[in-house]
Amino acid sequence: MAAAKIAPSMLSSDFANLASEADRMVRFGADWLHMDIMCRHFVPNLTIGAPVIQSLRKHTKAYLDCHLMVTNPSDYVEPFGKAGASGFTFHIEVARDNWQELIRSIKSKGMRPGVSLRPGTPVEEVFPLVEAENPVELVLVMTVEPGFGGQKFMPEMMDKVHTLRKKYPSLDIEVDGGLGPSTIDVAASAGANCIVAGSSIFSAADPGEVISVLRKSVEGSQNKS
Ligand code: DX5
Ligand code: ZN
Repeated sequence: MAAAKIAPSMLSSDFANLASEADRMVRFGADWLHMDIMCRHFVPNLTIGAPVIQSLRKHTKAYLDCHLMVTNPSDYVEPFGKAGASGFTFHIEVARDNWQELIRSIKSKGMRPGVSLRPGTPVEEVFPLVEAENPVELVLVMTVEPGFGGQKFMPEMMDKVHTLRKKYPSLDIEVDGGLGPSTIDVAASAGANCIVAGSSIFSAADPGEVISVLRKSVEGSQNKS
């Protein structure tokens, strides 16, 4: 069974205090820190790149779960490896022709490869990457259009999660966008085990409590199945 991983999205943190925000989330019980890397060509927003990961790495030993919403993920592999990224999740929409090479290079830089899909991308597109000889180790199902925190969860994406969980019982399946105490149960019961949550954690009076609610929901669903 794939263990529950709760990953606060640092996009909702105070970027001016990133090190202390990271430390705070780890103390609240976060398993991973989700880092949203965006270029304006792939999404209508621009965030951070390898230099920020490198700075943050000096302050934390936490698993840095990097989600690359960029058009040329292969250009980012070497700098992210050097910067100390832990996971490197690229989007299938921009890697249809070179995913094999991309997975190989991500692994060769000591990172864990993952693939993500936008809401409009059919789940079948990622099957070959999970079944490859050199496979991805995580599939990130977007539950909002990538680009911004604080959007509304799309429950219709749960079919993708369910399909993936049925096919791949021990795969890390991550959901990202609009997750919080009111949406976690459907995602957990569909089979998601890695939960990204930005605004629901950072805007809470007690972020540790939200992290614990998310974890309990995932573990509760796993015990039922
Ligand atoms: C959106 C990002 C998400 C975002 C989630 O493109 O990939 O990681 O930060 O934020 P919430 O949980 O607020 O929807
Ligand atoms: Zn993300």
